Amino acid sequence: MFLKPLNNNVPIHYFCGHSLGLQPEITRLKINAELEKWALYGVEGHFESPDPWFSYHHTVKKGLAELCGAKESEVNANGSLTSNIHNLFASFYNPTKEKYKILTEDIGFSSDNFAMQTQVQFHGYQIEDAIVFLEHNENYCFDTDYIIEQIEKHKNELSIIWLSVVNFLSGQVLNLELISNCAAKYNIKVGVDLAHAIGNIPLKLHTWGVDFAVWCSYKYLNAGPGATGGYFVHEKNFPQSKIEEQLATHNSQLTTILGGWWGHKEETRFQTGISFDPVNNADAWLHSNANVLSLSALRASLEIFLSEDIHLLSAKSKKQTIYAFDKFRQSNKIKILTPEKQAGNMISIQVLNQDKSLVTKLKEQNILVDWREPGIMRFSFCPLYNEENEWKHFIDLLNEML
Ligand SMILES: Cc1ncc(COP(=O)(O)O)c(C=O)c1O
Repeated sequence: MFLKPLNNNVPIHYFCGHSLGLQPEITRLKINAELEKWALYGVEGHFESPDPWFSYHHTVKKGLAELCGAKESEVNANGSLTSNIHNLFASFYNPTKEKYKILTEDIGFSSDNFAMQTQVQFHGYQIEDAIVFLEHNENYCFDTDYIIEQIEKHKNELSIIWLSVVNFLSGQVLNLELISNCAAKYNIKVGVDLAHAIGNIPLKLHTWGVDFAVWCSYKYLNAGPGATGGYFVHEKNFPQSKIEEQLATHNSQLTTILGGWWGHKEETRFQTGISFDPVNNADAWLHSNANVLSLSALRASLEIFLSEDIHLLSAKSKKQTIYAFDKFRQSNKIKILTPEKQAGNMISIQVLNQDKSLVTKLKEQNILVDWREPGIMRFSFCPLYNEENEWKHFIDLLNEML
């Protein structure tokens, strides 16, 4: 179902789905179908072709909603992860004199960090003052109790919380439900990065009451390098939302949205000289018309996810990661960073007295994993294309090599 890279004509054991997911076999067909439409219809492909491009972005909602645990009206795909952070912060980071701070991890992904730094600067604050950093423990993780403690401690100053649901370095899965519930008590917005979470673990963003989320689609979503990203906005934050939740928690303030034509109501989208009138759902945050070639690749992957059950996939991966935890616990050459009870598909270990050449040695054995300093090896079991036997072979081999 997926195309595995070859090493000397032999398919590689690929454990880097947390970085770039593999290509589904049907992706080429889906992209080719759109190229064909472009050739046959030209500009008329927007309205006259089967599956017209004008409404193409609607076709990814079902799959994305299922993976996020959201309503279809709460998700869409457009832009990139980082540009979507800025897009949604424009709506949800509304600092006031008292509440202007952002709570985030001290080891956030670089792009997230840069986004947080420049957001506070954009609003006229100093980074050292306006960003409250959660301090990681010796395993590059954050205890849930500690996170809650910090929210309580800074509750009167925090405007927004920005966290990665699955940490890119340690693979730790945060307890988003608890965090979100705690933040809601103090009217603090919660935004999350799902880069390493979507397609990896089951999510319930709607039920957990998360305000918004963003992701990229090239990791567990297998939509190809630089694929169009996606985002979630909870319905309580829709432009004209009148639901009780909004009245209770947001004083029914209307949310500011940076407008673009694809976020505007379809009936008048092409008119000039009129005011921005956003669609009353998450589409309001769309700026531009869909990158159809990229979304066709995303559709290919989402079709596969829709034919599976994310809970079953997750259970399959859990079984495999337990095998790895059991093996590594016996080794005094490895420090396991990922907390076993808070793990998804990816495991991170710190390898003592080894350097990056270990990755090369594994590659000589036809195994692909990745490496981050200081001495951290990351690998993931992606149940859509990784087999139990190849995973066990890799874990056993790594243990032996060390
Ligand atoms: C956690 C995290 N945040 C942000 C990014 C940046 O994503 P993009 O280049 O799609 O904006 C990545 C990319 O790998 C990531 O893993």
